[in-house]
Amino acid sequence: MAGTAPGGADRVFPDGFWWGTATAGHQIEGGNVHSNWWQWEKLGLVDDGSVSGRACDYWNRYEQDHDLLVELGQQGFRLGLEWARLEPQQGSFDDDALDHYVAILVDLQRKGIRVCLTLNHWVLPNWFAEAGGWLHPRAIDWWRRFVRHVVPALAPYVDLWVTLNEPMVPVLAGYLAGYHPPTESNPRHARRVFCTLLEAHAVAYDLVHRMVPRAPDGGPTMVGYANAYQAIEPYHEDGPLRPLEAVASKVVSWISFDAWDHAVRTGLVPFPMGLGRVGPRIRRLAGSADFVGVNYYMRISVRLNPSSLSNVKSGEYDTPPGIETTEMGWQVYPPGFRAVLERVTDRLGLPIYVTENGCCDSGDDLRRAYLVSHLAAMHDAIRGGADVRGYMHWTFMDNFEWREGFAKRFGLVEMDHTDPALTRRPRPSASMMRSIIEGNALTSEIIERHAPGALDRFVP
Ligand code: GCO
Repeated sequence: MAGTAPGGADRVFPDGFWWGTATAGHQIEGGNVHSNWWQWEKLGLVDDGSVSGRACDYWNRYEQDHDLLVELGQQGFRLGLEWARLEPQQGSFDDDALDHYVAILVDLQRKGIRVCLTLNHWVLPNWFAEAGGWLHPRAIDWWRRFVRHVVPALAPYVDLWVTLNEPMVPVLAGYLAGYHPPTESNPRHARRVFCTLLEAHAVAYDLVHRMVPRAPDGGPTMVGYANAYQAIEPYHEDGPLRPLEAVASKVVSWISFDAWDHAVRTGLVPFPMGLGRVGPRIRRLAGSADFVGVNYYMRISVRLNPSSLSNVKSGEYDTPPGIETTEMGWQVYPPGFRAVLERVTDRLGLPIYVTENGCCDSGDDLRRAYLVSHLAAMHDAIRGGADVRGYMHWTFMDNFEWREGFAKRFGLVEMDHTDPALTRRPRPSASMMRSIIEGNALTSEIIERHAPGALDRFVP
């Protein structure tokens, strides 16, 4: 169990706890030319006018990047498969691409870095998207064929399997807020995609378990999903609007992440996503998670005006006075991280891996304080009984931040996409994280050295 040193100054994490960073294929690899995002980016809708292009060129530089991970003391690495690379045309698999992914994983394993592999991180093959994406009647057949094709070759090198990353983002940002491709605002399509993604998760969970009897270390195969959780709370501390905002906060939480968790736990499609569906149950869905991937960044304050209820990704929400925000405008709110870890523990009772946590901060001063305050909050949750087994910081290096482009920097390592050499420059927060990893502890000495006052900085 986690503990604190005598005098309560240091936060020691459990034995076996492991530390890493999280990434996604499209955001770092470069050249994902057969994908729907590659086509969509040409529309000029990305905020800074950029396109993913060569991204960080990780596809070609993975060996040097893995050497940098070792240098930074990283013990684990989350990466995502790009379906569009592996099946650029319908039914025609590019086995050179599969061999390349195997080489990436072999290199990570050879360097002693655990692998957390995401089977789908939003991005789709263009042929799939143009056929209607997850709305197509054969979407699950095509998905099943893809998973069945790639898993066996990768299995000897994957320690944690994440079926889908933040499934509610394609639903809400892609089919309701119209912020991500296919930029629709169609509640009926959003409901259908929600149900299909639940089915896709269940199919992937079942297939991985059928094809992968043991993890590389001989332990049980671990398959889960990465859900985006926020602390969703009323904007007003008191006054006549607070009770109404409290109700609205529950609705937003339900739609944003609770409904997904409920569905995986029960196997039933929850209201209102099940409207129009024949039969509430999804085959093999109930209990289809060996762990939960928690992605946590921020608090959302629900203020009763329609615009603040829109998807946080579009940045239309309100921040109460006195609350620090990141360069994404997201509220820095460590108590919310503890609350989310406790809530997931109470509701699902599963092991947790933090599959994303971090902040948008080009200056790196906020990032060190953010890390300290959120790791302290995570430690509190662990001491309270949350079975958190690992932490993957978002992210390794600055990368293509979807509709926000390269301007939004989340990396422990600085990377300028306009630099012809794409030089990697570790930030001071990378050194701080290395010290934390070395001792498996957040010590008062580390805090004092890197982020003095960090635990007092964010008013809960
Ligand atoms: C997400 C995605 C990541 C983002 C990160 C910063 O959580 O939205 O998984 O791809 O880049 O969260 O927004």
